Amino acid sequence: MRFVTSLFVGLSAAVLLTSCGAGGEDQGTEYAPNMYHSVAYEPYTQIVDEDAGRWVTSIEYPDGHAEYFNSNKFNPSRMNMREPAANTVSRNKNGWLPYRLGKDSLAFAASHMKNPLDSTAEIIASGKALYEMYCDHCHGPKGAGDGKVAAGVKIDGVQKGNYNGVPDYKSGALKDISEGHIFHVITHGKGLMWAHGSQISPEDRWKIAKYVKTLQK
Ligand code: HEC
Repeated sequence: MRFVTSLFVGLSAAVLLTSCGAGGEDQGTEYAPNMYHSVAYEPYTQIVDEDAGRWVTSIEYPDGHAEYFNSNKFNPSRMNMREPAANTVSRNKNGWLPYRLGKDSLAFAASHMKNPLDSTAEIIASGKALYEMYCDHCHGPKGAGDGKVAAGVKIDGVQKGNYNGVPDYKSGALKDISEGHIFHVITHGKGLMWAHGSQISPEDRWKIAKYVKTLQK
């Protein structure tokens, strides 16, 4: 009797352990499959077969489809996510439209673009922090054009790696430039300076522009 019992227990354990194995194409036997297969509407997936997953559950959906069906009969391409209306332009969290003036519109930007931010101590302080991250190494801490990158290094008495041509913000040609001008130059670059529009958000560019003006005083 004891032998029969242990044989039974052993066999049941073996059956249990092997029957759930998954591998290759076989996902194995699933316990409570509706925990693995999302019933929620996914933004893109379109399972259009209304009978898919009929075996999974006995839940009755009001429109008669089975468990896995999750496409949307009303939206284009049966996606659950709506496509934005044609010609929609997304605004950022401040409600600003994308900056669309091209690189060659510097003069227009300089005279027409107004900084939407106020000159609060907080905004100027964060402009300073951003300036130190993105501009200081070329333009120098006071904007005199003497940053570490501009100056290069002396190796064995030989001057190397200068980034020439970084101007002083207080120089005659630059001391009166507008914040729009600075914003545009940060966005698109100018001459020897590269564009920073892809790295710095519009809001942060305006903060930097505010800070650069303080360096010119
Ligand atoms: C890799 C070095 C480098 C970095 C980084 C850099 N600049 Fe410049 N910047 C230059 C050089 C070089 C010029 C001169 C461009 C020219 O006239 O050819 C310049 C010119 C300018 C000018 C004058 C534009 C004009 O109308 O003549 C402004 C304003 C300016 N930079 C602001 C910034 C700000 C703000 C940052 C940080 C977001 C920044 N730059 C980052 C090198 C740099």
